[in-house]
Amino acid sequence: MEIITFSTVKGGIGKTTLSYNYAEYLAHQGHKVLLLDFDEQSSLSRIYDVTDQEGTAADILDVDNSDGSTVKIHHVKDNIDLIGGSTRLDTVQSRINDNPQKNMLLFLWLNKHYDRYNLDQYDYMIIDTHPDVQTATKNAIIVSDAVLSPVIPNQMSYDSIVEFSTRVEKLKNEAIDYTTGETFVKAKFFYLANEIRRNYGLSQDFLKMVEKEREEGVNWLAIIPEREIFNRSTSYKVSVAEMQEYAKINNADLPEEKRSNPEFMKMKRYFDQQKPQFYEEINEVFAEITKAV
Ligand SMILES: Nc1ncnc2c1ncn2[C@@H]1O[C@H](COP(=O)(O)OP(=O)(O)O)[C@@H](O)[C@H]1O
Ligand SMILES: [Mg+2]
Repeated sequence: MEIITFSTVKGGIGKTTLSYNYAEYLAHQGHKVLLLDFDEQSSLSRIYDVTDQEGTAADILDVDNSDGSTVKIHHVKDNIDLIGGSTRLDTVQSRINDNPQKNMLLFLWLNKHYDRYNLDQYDYMIIDTHPDVQTATKNAIIVSDAVLSPVIPNQMSYDSIVEFSTRVEKLKNEAIDYTTGETFVKAKFFYLANEIRRNYGLSQDFLKMVEKEREEGVNWLAIIPEREIFNRSTSYKVSVAEMQEYAKINNADLPEEKRSNPEFMKMKRYFDQQKPQFYEEINEVFAEITKAV
């Protein structure tokens, strides 16, 4: 199982949108995906209508009150399962602040419950996080093979890269296996240039900077265009991958339950109106990410 975390110190730059659509892309490629919502805002869980506050991601960290076996894995779609987020994540993190193992709890949970939850069945685990490098995020980074940080073309987002890297460096030094002296942080770190408008000055300056940094060896992994379709995906709760599937189906061939649903048919018109190359462009970005991680 390949573990990928979306993380930044800033909010509103695409972590949840990309976690969701990337997971759905992988599922449509035939991979089995486990989503973990490690953000107390639980936006990702709400996309899947999982609002249950029992057996959430908080139970993984709440080691004083749970042995971890209460965690519920929701089967939300073909090839996609989800461990829901919880408003309690915030308080639980404060409560475990003095626990010397506080950054290793997800690592320990995965080891302890691997068989019980048959985690071997998943090809990918995708973790969405809160915009910070607090305990939940640290736990996510420690178990990850790759950490993806979206950055959008504005100064505040770009400046936050330094803060993020500083915190990651600190975590690397903090999370040491004392028997070997090596850090538990094994992940590859990548930046994703997100919300790029190619014909827009700020984006162009930003892209030039990305190109320059790439030459200097900075891990800028992908250029993701700004597309309304991403916005719609989370509000419609229909992923870009699903939109593309629906756009290929004639209205007459839709199941009756969909055809007779005016809300759905309104969305269907939107899916059909999107240029096929918009869908392909997004698939290519996700394919590029998959190859690199
Ligand atoms: N590539 C993109 N194109 C257009 N809108 C985007 C893109 N990426 C993210 N957004 C929008 O930006 C907003 C914030 O995204 P979100 O995923 O909630 O960020 P985060 O999880 O980092 O707080 C949402 O309205 C989302 O639809
Ligand atoms: Mg989010």
